[in-house]
Amino acid sequence: MRRHRRRDVLISSRSLAEYRAMFGLSDADLTGAVLDCAAGGSSFVAELGPGADAVAVDPAYARPDVELAAALAGDTRRCADIAVEHADEFVWDWYRTPRRRDRMRAVAAARFLDDKAARPERYRAGSLPDLPFPDSGFDLVLCSHLLFTWADPLDLQWHANAVDELLRVARGEVRLYPLVRRGAGEAVPFLPALREHVRARGHRWSEEVVDFRFQRRAGVMARLVKGHLPAV
Ligand SMILES: C[S@@+](CC[C@H](N)C(=O)[O-])C[C@H]1O[C@@H](n2cnc3c(N)ncnc32)[C@H](O)[C@@H]1O
Repeated sequence: MRRHRRRDVLISSRSLAEYRAMFGLSDADLTGAVLDCAAGGSSFVAELGPGADAVAVDPAYARPDVELAAALAGDTRRCADIAVEHADEFVWDWYRTPRRRDRMRAVAAARFLDDKAARPERYRAGSLPDLPFPDSGFDLVLCSHLLFTWADPLDLQWHANAVDELLRVARGEVRLYPLVRRGAGEAVPFLPALREHVRARGHRWSEEVVDFRFQRRAGVMARLVKGHLPAV
């Protein structure tokens, strides 16, 4: 594997509405402790607000906020360019128009930056596969647009280590979206091997069609239910 450089991966800012659709989230799913891993500029934690037990983690949070804001602005444009470059592989039934998508991303980025300044303790700097949390601390762990999206340069071994780590910090479920590569949304060749890796460790892996779609081939999320192996 080519060494994974943090700046290979774009920072994007999806909203709570996008997270609800991508991960099939109900209100009940959001009542426990929730981790948004690889949260980037997402407003998921900000929109849930002080009534929720939600935390975001991302390596980019080690950077000063002004630098983070500038990276978010540039990367949001680069994300929009990807949809133009692969226009045949994107569908607009969820966002409706590029303008509405851009507006959602801008509002989410602003909410994220405001909330991070107001509640810095909710935003932790950290990277897979080594998160700064104890075992089994979160009822639900979400990870959007890192695993699979960046299957080049992040290989099977990196993904196996990453899912092991996501399951370590979860006590309930881990949900992953999407299950295809960025851009044209090509299949990830090592997805079957990763499923087997998870199941061989006693966890459940299932896949569900979700309401959200932007990449044409990305209508499915993975739900990993943590298995609690009996002590020996
Ligand atoms: C495309 S963004 C997704 C952001 C957000 N989840 C969303 O859906 O808009 C990918 C994020 O992964 C973060 N990232 C890169 N390497 C990482 C790692 N090893 N562990 C955790 N996050 C990482 C990046 O900093 C970036 O914010």
